[in-house]
Amino acid sequence: MSHPIPAIGLGTFRLQGPVVIDSVRTGLELGYRHVDTAQIYGNEADVGLAIAQSNVARDELFVTTKIWTEHLAGDKLIPSLKDSLQKLRLEQVDLTLIHWPSPQDAVPVAEYMQALLAAKRAGLTRQIGISNFTARHMREAIDAVGASEIETNQVEVHPYLQNRTVAAFAREHGIHVTAYMPLAYGKVMADPVIAAIADRHRATPAQVALAWLLQQGYAVIPSSTKRANLEANLGAARIVLTGDDMAAIAALEANERIANPEGIAPQWD
Ligand SMILES: NC(=O)c1ccc[n+]([C@@H]2O[C@H](COP(=O)([O-])OP(=O)(O)OC[C@H]3O[C@@H](n4cnc5c(N)ncnc54)[C@H](OP(=O)(O)O)[C@@H]3O)[C@@H](O)[C@H]2O)c1
Repeated sequence: MSHPIPAIGLGTFRLQGPVVIDSVRTGLELGYRHVDTAQIYGNEADVGLAIAQSNVARDELFVTTKIWTEHLAGDKLIPSLKDSLQKLRLEQVDLTLIHWPSPQDAVPVAEYMQALLAAKRAGLTRQIGISNFTARHMREAIDAVGASEIETNQVEVHPYLQNRTVAAFAREHGIHVTAYMPLAYGKVMADPVIAAIADRHRATPAQVALAWLLQQGYAVIPSSTKRANLEANLGAARIVLTGDDMAAIAALEANERIANPEGIAPQWD
């Protein structure tokens, strides 16, 4: 049975303790069925608690976690995922991503992709994927496990960083793109072009930015600590932008990258 990634998910980066528990609990109440966490966020246990306390059936929920760079070696990946599952109180996650390619390629792509595939075969994760992979890293990942095994490449995409080279390569190989930081960490809210489009659609700038990504076929994982914003972001699925709206937002490309951690980020396309 195939389990496509729900188009709108709930991001949890930076959110800790009661804040993340409240965000996930509220999100699940409002109808989110896709939660995005990671080993490095330090919140898997709180995300797991919020899920366990909800009334949502396990098979209705899509949970993603990501393997941190220190756990990429062939003998470390599976034990680290088992640790994540314990924190999340789950027997299996729906999707496990390699969070970043190994810095300076210290661990070869084939080694961690094969370990990730072994985790899938062992039933620890229903699907596998990658994050922050360049076209070169995607090519190596495809060589290692085959494109059909790679569900998604989760990368930064918003109006100011459209990541067109990576998106085109992924599309060519049938790999879905998940857009992270889809609101450019709040910057879209102050954009006059997006605000004008939002006014015409009686929507908010955040909804327009999300609709622009959804209409390109991307999954989106905005985060929010506020009920009203969580609810509004889910409503983005109902907005239909015109071709002119889509083109006006596409023209905002500025190669403005937000997530670029020194010593970890690869040489970008
Ligand atoms: N794979 C990776 O390497 C990677 C890297 C970065 C992020 N991610 C994932 O992507 C998710 C999203 O990224 P992000 O959280 O950094 O940034 P984001 O979703 O682009 O922006 C979140 C910010 O926007 C605000 N916001 C959300 N909805 C709003 C609305 N409707 N109106 C006004 N403001 C709104 C939030 O504030 P309030 O709390 O006040 O609403 C928060 O400050 C992360 O949580 C994480 O799961 C993955």
